Amino acid sequence: MSFVPAHEIVQRAYRDGYAVGAFNVNNMEIVQAIIEAAEAERAPVILQASQGAIKYAGIRYIVALARTAAEAASVPVALHLDHGTDFEQVMACIRYGFSSVMYDGSHHPLEENIAETARIVEIAHAVGVSVEGEIGRLVGIEDDIAVSELEAALTDPEQAARFARETGIDFMAVAFGTRHGFYKGEPRLDFDRLRRIRELVSIPIVMHGGSGVPDSHVRKAIELGVAKINIDTELRHAFVTAARQVMEARPDEIDPRKILGPGRDAMRERVREKIRLFGSAGKA
Ligand code: 13P
Repeated sequence: MSFVPAHEIVQRAYRDGYAVGAFNVNNMEIVQAIIEAAEAERAPVILQASQGAIKYAGIRYIVALARTAAEAASVPVALHLDHGTDFEQVMACIRYGFSSVMYDGSHHPLEENIAETARIVEIAHAVGVSVEGEIGRLVGIEDDIAVSELEAALTDPEQAARFARETGIDFMAVAFGTRHGFYKGEPRLDFDRLRRIRELVSIPIVMHGGSGVPDSHVRKAIELGVAKINIDTELRHAFVTAARQVMEARPDEIDPRKILGPGRDAMRERVREKIRLFGSAGKA
């Protein structure tokens, strides 16, 4: 299959009460791990590339790896830009074949974020590409910041409604206490805020910083409208832990395949667990 626009699979998940996993990719083994997991679980899946991935592998390699995987796959696969920083980069990704893009204008004033996101939506939608926008900054509630600062960082539900309405985005990343990377303790999530956003906004919600969020919290977030969940750190951890084990057990090993292969296998199993948790197994 060629790439599907992410909104097709995310919208369906939103309607039917599950979430699609959006997993970060950086190299061939990671793409393979995710696709093998999606195939094994018969799940729709989103491969996403961050700034770091594009810098590391190059946009052409990312697209070629993901396309090769998607064309051989029998499950729907979308290729998504994670945290696009500027108009030019988002356009480049559309041109190279991404089927979904995120424009993250969350650090700009609201008016600017709305205007730039709406401009991107108009162009992306004209060529069938999905768009994710972000409002609110991703800070953890347990992070060392003042309450007033936290209030200002987490997504304001009324602003979220306006942002969705005026931009025409397909799905929206909001801040309700998740953050990127591992948490210091158990993350505390502001579910009341998420509930209020759900009441005012009728498009799927995206949860960034999915690594380390307890399963019960993930299920609750899905009940409250989260239909795309981003996971990166936990997958890297699984990959590198397995690769490190090989290197420690066999310090003389010089065949990269014997180090990266077990990393790929470990990552595949972690992705399968996430897919089952998100409820997207069997939905392809
Ligand atoms: P984690 O690295 O915390 O899983 O977050 C991934 C993410 O949100 C990518 O946008």
